[in-house]
Amino acid sequence: MKGRLLKGLLAVVGLSLCGLLMGTAASNDTAPPPPGKTTFYKDVLPILQNNCQSCHRAGEVAPMALMTYEDARPWAVAIKMAVTTGKMPPWYADPQYGHFSNERKLTPQQIRTLVSWVDGGAKPGDAKDAPAPVQFVDGWNIGTPDRVIEMPAAYNVPAEGTVEYQYMVIPGGFTQDTWVRAAEVRPGNRAVVHHVIAFIRPPGSKWMADAKPGEFFLPKKEKEEDKDKPEAKQEDKQEGSNQQPRRRRSGDIGELLVGYAPGLQPLDLTDEAKLIKAGSDIILQLHYTANGTPGTDKTTIGLIYAKQPSKVRNVMLAASNAGFKIPPNDGNYEVKSQVELQETVTLSDLMPHMHFRGKDFRFEVIYPDGKTETLLSVPKYDFNWQLGYRLAQPLVLPKGTRIECTAHFDNSANNPYNPDPTKEVKWGDQTWEEMMIGWFSVSVADPKVTAAQLIKFEKPGTRTSTQPGAKPANAAGSVGGGSQQ
Ligand code: HEC
Repeated sequence: MKGRLLKGLLAVVGLSLCGLLMGTAASNDTAPPPPGKTTFYKDVLPILQNNCQSCHRAGEVAPMALMTYEDARPWAVAIKMAVTTGKMPPWYADPQYGHFSNERKLTPQQIRTLVSWVDGGAKPGDAKDAPAPVQFVDGWNIGTPDRVIEMPAAYNVPAEGTVEYQYMVIPGGFTQDTWVRAAEVRPGNRAVVHHVIAFIRPPGSKWMADAKPGEFFLPKKEKEEDKDKPEAKQEDKQEGSNQQPRRRRSGDIGELLVGYAPGLQPLDLTDEAKLIKAGSDIILQLHYTANGTPGTDKTTIGLIYAKQPSKVRNVMLAASNAGFKIPPNDGNYEVKSQVELQETVTLSDLMPHMHFRGKDFRFEVIYPDGKTETLLSVPKYDFNWQLGYRLAQPLVLPKGTRIECTAHFDNSANNPYNPDPTKEVKWGDQTWEEMMIGWFSVSVADPKVTAAQLIKFEKPGTRTSTQPGAKPANAAGSVGGGSQQ
């Protein structure tokens, strides 16, 4: 958390100039409420309740609570800074494209109110003016779960070093097909949990068949082991064809149920549900990071069942590309991915995923008639915030529609997060390696259809580097992914 705070501070310093400019521009359209008249209880608390407390309360992702006057007062100046620079609440979508129901954004009026409160001396006002407190369920954001699945064993994270992704198969105990309306991952120890993904492994799947249930498991990396085998060499040559990442291609892997990462909201569906077939297991992928102090984690998952079997099934899919090689010192390396829908689906959520060198990300759809639409553009991607963007109006995409994602990576020394601009960077789990995944979730009327049947990977558009003097990019690479990371 320390590292992240420091980075956060650096970001504030970097952004503050533009924030000051924005602040001046904003105050021109309507005069701010007179300083001194704006009070915490009457004006500020309602804004904090609706926009900040989901994260700024005990046990949640933010380092401090903003529940009461006493909580907020010491942070007044920081609050002004964070909201005028746009750092808080975290939200990265370019407002030109799309409308999102989970948009975390203050209106200019709300920003003026917070600024005026701080400039006027951050007065409490009269406690009688306070709105009723928001009723949060302690420990959960989805409400009280119908079932809580806890990791049967705790993981001990060392003080230092790289921790490989850990996997754990947890016996599901689902005796009948179960429709899940909401799901949330709760890390046991946020200081060491970087991210968690819970997958559903359907009955009969061979995925991680050699893992002992309830124990931590490191899948063998085909990449390392099969390097010298003739098949692997053959596959290397095939880069450029329609491939999933090599080490994930063999065997079916599960469907993504729910993930945890800073800023990511839990799964919370209204009219649709996720199907967990009877006999399924849950597989956790856990990414721990050493932070200087040893720590222990026991993560839990909460599930809320749908009241009745759903007619509409929600499935997470991905358009990813695992075949890129980002040249050293390239400040704007483009990677594309593309899938074609094999059924008519309704699109509801979008989530870009890259690592430290990720710079920007865009989702576009190309309809069968050739019409193109930009659904989401994240012009300044920030790895610290793994945000999902939920379409305000779910979008029906006819069979044959293509989803194309375009990402740029900054592998130059200008990227403050870049661990090493002199390295060529390829796909990999660790944050100094890269990923390029456009996660998206769709709903389908046919509950039997599998994720793999819904999309076909396509050769993405050609990749070019726009960095002057950079090594020219080679031909389009392999396309990877599916319902996996
Ligand atoms: C999605 C979760 C989330 C929401 C919503 C959120 N915050 Fe934060 N906030 C954080 C986290 C996490 C940090 C820790 C800093 C970091 O790692 O970037 C933080 C840090 C801060 C800081 C510390 C100073 C800084 O810039 O690092 C302030 C002040 C702050 N938030 C104010 C707010 C206010 C005001 C709101 C609502 C208008 C808000 N936050 C909404 C998660 C959130």
